Amino acid sequence: MSSDRVIKLLREAYADEIETVMNYQTNAIVLDGVRAEEIKGSLQADIQEELTHAEQIGQRLKQLGARPPSSMEFTPRQESLQPPEDSTDVLAVINGVIDAEEAAIATYRDLIDAATEANDPVTEDLAVTLLADEEAHRTEFRGFRKEYRND
Ligand SMILES: [Fe+2]
Ligand SMILES: [Fe+2]
Repeated sequence: MSSDRVIKLLREAYADEIETVMNYQTNAIVLDGVRAEEIKGSLQADIQEELTHAEQIGQRLKQLGARPPSSMEFTPRQESLQPPEDSTDVLAVINGVIDAEEAAIATYRDLIDAATEANDPVTEDLAVTLLADEEAHRTEFRGFRKEYRND
């Protein structure tokens, strides 16, 4: 029932979610200044959501007879989300977050297609839910970007 492509995308998505947790956490700690407070709070809220996403994906992998990846299999991808040299450069972090959310959106769209093709409606349903969450995150950070660009 499960296809290799579904498993591959679920494993990639799991690794991306964990990398997102790491980078959101690090940026939430590193950023300084009054203007960063709102962003830090939003990152902290999203960390919990992304961690829940990872868990849901991991459980789905298990149900399909597979496993989520662990650290020795991990390849980092979020170059633009590394904490900026200038710890008050909030816009750099906002842009990095938008890149990460767009990558997640692309992965969940691919997963929806793969799951449909594999006749796997449970994975498809999960991917649709996660896609909706990532689109909401992107909208929130696009809003922040508008404001910070205007300063
Ligand atoms: Fe996520
Ligand atoms: Fe997200």
